[in-house]
Amino acid sequence: MDDLLFHDIDEPGLNTIEVYERRGGYETLKKALRELDGDRVLAELQASGVRGRGGAGFAMGTKAGFLPKGTMDKYLCCNADESEPGTFKDRELMQKNPHQLIEGIVLASFAAGINKAFIYIRGEYDAQASILEAAVREAYEHGHLGENIHGSSFGVSLVVHRGAGAYICGEETALLDSLEGKRGNPRLKPPFPANAGLFQGPTLINNVETLSNVSHIIKHGGEWYARIGTEKSTGTKLVSVSGCVQRPGNYEIELGVPAREIIFGLAGGPLPGREIKAWFPGGSSSPVLTPAELDLAYDFDTIAGAGSMLGSGAIIVIDDSVSIVDVCLRTAMFYKHESCGKCTPCREGTNWTTKMLQRVSDGLATPMDLDIIASVQKQIMGNCLCVLGDAMAMPVSSMVNKFRGEFEAHIEQARAKHTPLSEAVRAPLDLTKQGAIA
Ligand SMILES: Cc1cc2nc3c(=O)[nH]c(=O)nc-3n(C[C@H](O)[C@H](O)[C@H](O)COP(=O)(O)O)c2cc1C
Ligand code: SF4
Repeated sequence: MDDLLFHDIDEPGLNTIEVYERRGGYETLKKALRELDGDRVLAELQASGVRGRGGAGFAMGTKAGFLPKGTMDKYLCCNADESEPGTFKDRELMQKNPHQLIEGIVLASFAAGINKAFIYIRGEYDAQASILEAAVREAYEHGHLGENIHGSSFGVSLVVHRGAGAYICGEETALLDSLEGKRGNPRLKPPFPANAGLFQGPTLINNVETLSNVSHIIKHGGEWYARIGTEKSTGTKLVSVSGCVQRPGNYEIELGVPAREIIFGLAGGPLPGREIKAWFPGGSSSPVLTPAELDLAYDFDTIAGAGSMLGSGAIIVIDDSVSIVDVCLRTAMFYKHESCGKCTPCREGTNWTTKMLQRVSDGLATPMDLDIIASVQKQIMGNCLCVLGDAMAMPVSSMVNKFRGEFEAHIEQARAKHTPLSEAVRAPLDLTKQGAIA
């Protein structure tokens, strides 16, 4: 299958409008505005079955269809926060092909009757934000953005907004608060953003990769797109492969290929002499899978059926040189640091779990503490305002459950090395041997 989103990705100057237009860019937008109405574009998106690429995998066309009709201000927010550890595909899309994203944003806005659009980009992506800003300027100059685009009655504005580097601002409602100039805290849902989002107006929120698909769907038709991938996971997917592999990087795959083909075929497999111990299929918040699960089809439903999730498509490979206790502790520390603190199970649960895992790592825990850690994760899951709490609880419980033996062995070894009590017991015995005491 030919690449869609990464087609031409390494063409020099693709980030400029000259090269993008020379390669057929914005022709789909012009044709759609000339020949189709918004409802027809929406129908193509729905027929494509494309699911959100930011994490939750919700059908994009269905979500766009939730926005009410009418002439009120409606908003599109492109989620370019890309903070999930292991994920770096949106960065490459924005850096190398920003106009593909802009064309997708304009078409999606046309489909949902949106007149104001934003790209919310994480603060750390300074270079990518500058590239996007330049591309937006060019798109305005060439008449692809603004009022009466290409002589039609449709118009949409587009603003690039830089975040300040908080993981929680990738959560869609925290993103909205941050965009409104407030502290980025998640909102209670419902109401959902499609009804009351930015400035309480109807808002469509989609990930960079999701929106980058739109011009391809409209160019070839929703049915054509739906034939790529599997029945319920249509299209291609960008996967960011990192960790213990020979060729880490972003790869475009057809949804449904075996995970083994991605990890071994594209990313080269583990380093010589090493074996895979575990892999995260969808970023650090996805429950880990084992080598026995490498032949699973890489699509939303198969990975969910194995008790994990496809998430953002970030595959992190852990080999046998890496301690799973360290991976678990580092994962918990990240989510503890990023918890906004608004609700108790997440604020206290991430903090407490991190402290317990530190005790495990330091050799101060007992195997019974592993049971307590596992049971606390169950109490976090499903009890938080947003899914950040679950984002820690899911991988932590998967690691503790699937690698219980390694955790117990670590506890034993670390305890033997560090427990002051064992030294205290040994010391008088040694002294006795040396004849220092009677
Ligand atoms: C804690 C948290 C962080 C998130 N971070 C991101 C992110 O960085 N980028 C992203 O696109 N979606 C992120 N999401 C998912 C968004 O809330 C939302 O589902 C997504 O932007 C919708 O776009 P999509 O349907 O195209 O995937 C995050 C969700 C949570 C709970
Ligand atoms: S789950 Fe965590 S990050 Fe989400 S609202 Fe609650 S405290 Fe904040």
